[in-house]
Amino acid sequence: MTVNIITIDGPSGSGKGTLAAKLASHYQYHLLDSGALYRLLGLSLFNKGLLEKLDTELEACTQIATNLDIQFVTTQTGMTVLLESVDVTQQIRTERVGEYASKVAAIPALRAALLARQHAFAQAPGLVADGRDMATSIFPEAQAKIYLTASAESRAQRRVKQLQGMGLDAKINDILVNIEARDKRDMERTVAPLKPASDAYIIDSSNLSIDDVFKLMTNYVDQQLTN
Ligand code: DC
Repeated sequence: MTVNIITIDGPSGSGKGTLAAKLASHYQYHLLDSGALYRLLGLSLFNKGLLEKLDTELEACTQIATNLDIQFVTTQTGMTVLLESVDVTQQIRTERVGEYASKVAAIPALRAALLARQHAFAQAPGLVADGRDMATSIFPEAQAKIYLTASAESRAQRRVKQLQGMGLDAKINDILVNIEARDKRDMERTVAPLKPASDAYIIDSSNLSIDDVFKLMTNYVDQQLTN
């Protein structure tokens, strides 16, 4: 049986996470939040005191990545994420853990160690895979490839709202600086840099509502899946 794969790549704050979840629910597909895997690995390595020793302890870090003890549990309100049985759903969404994730994501051996885990999400009837390199390196065979972007300013504003909604303190300028630094690191790294696949459908969500973007996406995906 064919497994339909829809990839959504793009920088953080473009609305990927929300749209990926909406698409997965609309098509009744599985959902891969690959950023969460990098965040979990970053947090795990930090907790073990290894994040600052990525160069000298790469072997041990790679082992940890391969054997990462994580669970995604679907609940009525969304997804609960467990790391070694501890609920880290909120913690992995913090800026601090985003920084850890960006560091580990730049290391080829650690990316490779997460490969099989990502492929395992591709199960019938289909998968919506959210990330940076879903179309360019993890699922190049995907039937529908979307690249969702937005200006750094609009992404920073959305992030502030999101953090405030979680009861966390957030300053727009700090967030903007972080976003720009992370974009630069994600786009300039040599392994799996953030960039649209040559056959991706590119959407700029800066001035679009979630519903507008959702409509553009479903029109495109429906067309791709019937071809
Ligand atoms: O999407 P996110 O903000 O949760 O991603 C966290 C970090 O992980 C971000 O710096 C980019 C990196 N990442 C990646 O390199 N490849 C992916 N497929 C997903 C995320």
